[in-house]
Amino acid sequence: MSQHSSALIEIANLNFSQIQSLFLSALEFSKNPGRKNYAAQTAALLFFEPSTRTRFSFETAAARLGLHPLLLDGGAGTSLEKGESIEDTVLNIAAMESAALIIRCKDDVDLYALQKQIKMPILNAGWGRKAHPSQALLDALTLKANGRDFEKEKLLVIGDVKHSRVIGSHFQLAKILGYQIAVCGPQSFLPENYSGLSFEKLEDGLKWATSVMALRVQHERHEEVHSVATYREQYGLNLQKLKSWKSDGLLMHPGPINYGVELDVDVNQDPRCKILEQVKWGAYIRQALLERALSERTVS
Ligand code: CP
Repeated sequence: MSQHSSALIEIANLNFSQIQSLFLSALEFSKNPGRKNYAAQTAALLFFEPSTRTRFSFETAAARLGLHPLLLDGGAGTSLEKGESIEDTVLNIAAMESAALIIRCKDDVDLYALQKQIKMPILNAGWGRKAHPSQALLDALTLKANGRDFEKEKLLVIGDVKHSRVIGSHFQLAKILGYQIAVCGPQSFLPENYSGLSFEKLEDGLKWATSVMALRVQHERHEEVHSVATYREQYGLNLQKLKSWKSDGLLMHPGPINYGVELDVDVNQDPRCKILEQVKWGAYIRQALLERALSERTVS
């Protein structure tokens, strides 16, 4: 499949050494965010779906690089309202020669087909249920920045795995970096034909896990109605349950969080809770991804 070498549509587009290089670059940026400056160039952020963290994070990353971010935030005020397709919108904005196109969209947009038609890299900022590679990278960078050893890490992903684009990217990244993944939640939250390690009981999963990631319960996507109270009792994390978790690993959540469902707000008092630190690393890994795109453009 032809693809721009600094595009990131899925984690599978990267190899081990490219990921290590991105981590190094992000860590360097955390020490000196302004060490590279690409003034007079632009990065187009095409958010056809809502976002807080990913959008502001890419905007922060672009601003730190001196790039001017061009934002499309939903269809309002654009020719999408007149029936122009998302594909045609992307091709027209690409014709203005931004350094990179950062795209959040639904599953039905074919990012690989679009990438074949444009010369700048596409950076996937959340693609339907398919993939969210920069989220998986920022989670892994948070583990690395906290001194975790991927080869020994056992990451328990709790909750709505079936509707998560983050978990798919983690399955790909775990294969490259060497950490293990297990899932935990009600049977109806697991993907059909899932054959990996799973725990039905939270206490069993926590005994296995060295780090934990809770996922947002996407009530809006479930056909059957789930009781929030039952979910919270069986799988929701709170300070009390965390007290019985003996690991020195991290508690993460990609956001947005349903407080009172998958997490109680008191988990933020646990020093292992790194949710806002994930957000911090998100901006640096996205700066590294953009810098990779820019440095390639400079030499070509
Ligand atoms: N984690 C994440 O993608 O959050 P947003 O939807 O707010 O970007």
